[in-house]
Amino acid sequence: MKKITIFGQGNMGSAIGARFQEAGHEVAYVGSSRVVDTLGDMIVLAVPYAAVASILATYAPLLTGKVIVDITNPVDFATLDGLVVPTGSSAAEVIAQTVPSATVVKAFNTNFAATLGSKEVAGKEVTTVLLASDSDDAKALVSSALTPSGLVVLDAGSLKRARELEAMGFLQITLAIRGQIGWTGGFAVIK
Ligand SMILES: NC(=O)c1ccc[n+]([C@@H]2O[C@H](COP(=O)([O-])OP(=O)(O)OC[C@H]3O[C@@H](n4cnc5c(N)ncnc54)[C@H](OP(=O)(O)O)[C@@H]3O)[C@@H](O)[C@H]2O)c1
Repeated sequence: MKKITIFGQGNMGSAIGARFQEAGHEVAYVGSSRVVDTLGDMIVLAVPYAAVASILATYAPLLTGKVIVDITNPVDFATLDGLVVPTGSSAAEVIAQTVPSATVVKAFNTNFAATLGSKEVAGKEVTTVLLASDSDDAKALVSSALTPSGLVVLDAGSLKRARELEAMGFLQITLAIRGQIGWTGGFAVIK
């Protein structure tokens, strides 16, 4: 059993927490109104990308050696026309540069919250969580912790692949906002 700390108990945080709990892990949530003095083995950033920098700064001394799961889609919501991270980078890589003492895994950002709740995309395909990280051990940790929940977990490659995952997440959001797909749908992966 792993101890998992999830920052944010909104749509994504609660859906991800439920899956980890279902898989037998201990989940603790941290909101914006309180600061805690211990963190789990795995930390999930289920908060808006704009909130990430202050969380990393506040918890810097506690992050050494931890696996940080970044689920954010750093969309420029002012324009809905791109991402706020530098070209040729990603939110996950920015986080990894900010906290080099931790290991970052990009995950969940291509899954709408409803598909993590139902474990299905549009009621048709099993929801697949794509992982990107430079650490095979960290990907194995997330995968082994999550797979018993019934979600499919795939290794999407190095942390650099977070660029493509964030582009996919952005595209999926724009498809939903423009009414081309529903928020219970989105990208599915078929082997
Ligand atoms: N919704 C989706 O389908 C979806 C899909 C893929 C990825 N994502 C990504 O997932 C992240 C969360 O999205 P969401 O839809 O779950 O948002 P949400 O429902 O609005 O929830 C955001 C949560 O973040 C918390 N939060 C904000 N600032 C915080 C801080 N400084 N410390 C701790 N908690 C803080 C809020 O808690 P308080 O109320 O305590 O402030 C709230 O519970 C975003 O980065 C989004 O891009 C979302």
